Amino acid sequence: MPAGRLSGKVAIVTGAAGGIGQVLVQALVAEGAKVAALDVREPAKGSGGLFVPTDIADYSSCEKAVAQTLSAFGGLHILVNNAAIGLGAIRSNHQKVPITIDEISPAMWQRFLSVNASGAWHMTRACIGHLRAQRWGRIINVTTSFATMLRGGFHPYGPAKALVEAMSAGHAEEFKASGVTVNVVLPGGPVDTPMVPPESGFDRAALIPPHVMATPVVWLSSDAANGITGNRYIAAHWDATLVPQEAERRCRTPAGWPGIGTPMIAP
Ligand SMILES: NC(=O)c1ccc[n+]([C@@H]2O[C@H](COP(=O)([O-])OP(=O)(O)OC[C@H]3O[C@@H](n4cnc5c(N)ncnc54)[C@H](O)[C@@H]3O)[C@@H](O)[C@H]2O)c1
Repeated sequence: MPAGRLSGKVAIVTGAAGGIGQVLVQALVAEGAKVAALDVREPAKGSGGLFVPTDIADYSSCEKAVAQTLSAFGGLHILVNNAAIGLGAIRSNHQKVPITIDEISPAMWQRFLSVNASGAWHMTRACIGHLRAQRWGRIINVTTSFATMLRGGFHPYGPAKALVEAMSAGHAEEFKASGVTVNVVLPGGPVDTPMVPPESGFDRAALIPPHVMATPVVWLSSDAANGITGNRYIAAHWDATLVPQEAERRCRTPAGWPGIGTPMIAP
């Protein structure tokens, strides 16, 4: 994609101080976007964007961040819901020894749901009025592999991400006629970021590099992706050697899990 494809656009990236967030901020800035970098902690110096301290678990903090973005940049077009807490917050060797229900306090369960699930809804709720009014918007939700959502020993992280996956499919449908698209991007496996603690015991060189997330996120943010909505992209499967339209077509699946199960009994 030639540089400058996002010039004139303003983006919000949550979790901007994290491994994937920093890459996304840099990639969006490199394409000419102005970027508000939201996080509870300050991103490393030089990672780009305007740092806006925000706790996405707190709706009023999200509203404030959106207002600050609009006043700093005079617009808003793209929301990347990327922030999350990982299971290292409960126990750093959780990849080797799965977390049990007894280890999860009710407060910890709530915190994961508040950040990893409600956080994306809070940000969407705080941005949607502006995006709909201008009849152009991008919402890109970062989820995880279905295996992680369903896996034993991966609570509360997995079920919270399943909520975001389902919410993405529902919002894509709800916002369909409004010019606002909603898509899911996920890495496709463990990534070499602080969310995967050293105690995981993985060979770091075998982990997915965070930069794979940038290509689909930037393309979905661009005008080339007008009307592309309700999809799910495994970033590690996006073939960057192809022209973006072809890479997108091959990588695309529907967000969530439509088409499974028997039809609902309608009254
Ligand atoms: N790393 C992986 O293996 C992996 C795999 C699949 C999906 N993901 C997803 O990718 C996204 C980015 O993860 P990462 O690997 O860069 O993790 P990371 O831990 O490096 O970054 C997460 C960032 O989110 C921020 N954050 C946490 N709570 C917040 C809050 N309440 N408000 C605002 N910001 C908050 C953290 O401060 C941190 O900077 C997450 O949604 C994660 O679930 C990661």
